[in-house]
Amino acid sequence: MDYKKIIAEKLKIEGVSSEEIYSFLEVPPDKEMGDFALPCFKLAKVLKKSPIAIANELASFFTVDDNICDCSAVNGYLNFKIDRKKFSINSLNDILSLNEKYGSSDIGKGKTVCVEYSSINIAKPFHIGHLSTTVIGSALYKIYKFLGYNVVGINHLGDYGTQFGKLIVAFKLWSSEEQVIKGRLKELSRIYVKFHEEAKVNPKLDDEARRYFNLIEKGDSESNRLFELFKKITLEEVGKIYDLLNVKFDSYAGESFYTDKMQPIIDELRSKNLLVESDGASIVDLSDYDMPPCLILKSDGSSLYATRDLAAAEYRKKTYDFYKSLYVVAYQQNLHFKQFFKVLELMGREWAKDMVHVAYGMVSLEDGAMSTREGKVVLLEDVINKTIEKAREVIENKNPNVIDKEKTARAVGTGAVIFSALVNNKIKDIVFSYDRVLSFEGETCPYVLYTVARCNSVLKKLGEPTEYNISELSGVEYNVISTLSNFNSVIVTASEKYEPSLITRYALDLASEFNKFYIDCKIGVPDENIKNFRLAITKAVKITLTNALNLLGIETVYEM
Ligand code: ARG
Repeated sequence: MDYKKIIAEKLKIEGVSSEEIYSFLEVPPDKEMGDFALPCFKLAKVLKKSPIAIANELASFFTVDDNICDCSAVNGYLNFKIDRKKFSINSLNDILSLNEKYGSSDIGKGKTVCVEYSSINIAKPFHIGHLSTTVIGSALYKIYKFLGYNVVGINHLGDYGTQFGKLIVAFKLWSSEEQVIKGRLKELSRIYVKFHEEAKVNPKLDDEARRYFNLIEKGDSESNRLFELFKKITLEEVGKIYDLLNVKFDSYAGESFYTDKMQPIIDELRSKNLLVESDGASIVDLSDYDMPPCLILKSDGSSLYATRDLAAAEYRKKTYDFYKSLYVVAYQQNLHFKQFFKVLELMGREWAKDMVHVAYGMVSLEDGAMSTREGKVVLLEDVINKTIEKAREVIENKNPNVIDKEKTARAVGTGAVIFSALVNNKIKDIVFSYDRVLSFEGETCPYVLYTVARCNSVLKKLGEPTEYNISELSGVEYNVISTLSNFNSVIVTASEKYEPSLITRYALDLASEFNKFYIDCKIGVPDENIKNFRLAITKAVKITLTNALNLLGIETVYEM
């Protein structure tokens, strides 16, 4: 039973749909004022009246009923009071019966969202800098799915460019198939670095590299076979980490996939007079929009990063007919996205407005390490493994009797890494600290996981909730239930703002409300009604926290 919906439907306001009213309704932080509130300033523009006048008028027409037992106007807000006991029982029943579906909806039915994330580069190490795109993108993927959207997860592989010519040259000179298969990404890195050192003194190598890259593009079988080998090795290595992080993709169409799809775009740009020559190169002039030009073709006629993105955007629209197309890419590429979105708009693609660059901040380690440039690459796999290792120690100290220690350490360790990238607003830079992400106190994954484990232990000790009736309801109990019932709207907002951290924050808040309740209200009381009501709260919290964590890609543990 959705109380917001009941209120929205009862409030008939001319010129405003009940869906809109629904979206304006909020849960006031101070529940003394009311259980739900409508901020009338949101209606002022349409109704051309002051918020105070609107609130007063709406209050005078509103008829109370069994569910909504009071409506009053206060300072431009319309405050509603509900029958809290009835609401509590209804909410808990809903949660317990919906279980793993609790929080989901079908608002996305019939709409497709493309989410591009991770987008790794072939033959390059998968480092800590890839953490955010991978887990933010994957969380958005799961969030949209949970809301009923059709979602396409895309890994736009960096698999195009002269660097692959370089790799083939380096491979032929200094490596072999056996060495590459054995040494994996480390071997590919080694020969790539060696190429650059050698090319400094022997520029002929660069010409060779260009020649091989052309061969790849022309479909030469030997060059393509090697390229596919490098690709396979990269995807196998990265796949292990995707598995650990519960990350999946529906498409691995990378940059090279668009090799034969760029020409129509170039032709169209030319025929629409958008392409201008500049020092032999072809560009789209964006000076009217205060941006540097978007580079489409180099002077030698080869395509650029943006050219491939234009072709990819067009392909995605044609193939998936998206409602929205998201790009989870670091903020360093802000300009690139603004430029190529603008070019699409200039080409007359009205759907350019549906493309969103979901930008996020940087991750570094406490010792400052992170960048490839200084050669100090911190591999994501190493960070995850070290966190799992440390989680094992923490568990050993706190609760050595945990049944499946290995599985628990794995879940806690990976969960902590994922959580660290999803706990703050995504645009903030992150400094990763092993001790902090594994702490049981503060805004951490172990804190939330421990709360779930606490719920499990209560249910194990006192049993599953059965039928109950309540005559009393404390403020602490109601706070937990009110937070529980807000889950779906948090998910919807997270999807609208492309901000999974809202769900992380929600999980932290819910865990903290529950822990207050746990300290305040004894659950194992003799009164069967009270006991079962409190067990139902415990079970509902367990379900909701589990669902919230799963949306973030984090698995819960039974005990810890
Ligand atoms: N592979 C690129 C990089 O590592 C990121 C790709 C971003 N996505 C895109 N459609 N441009 O920088």
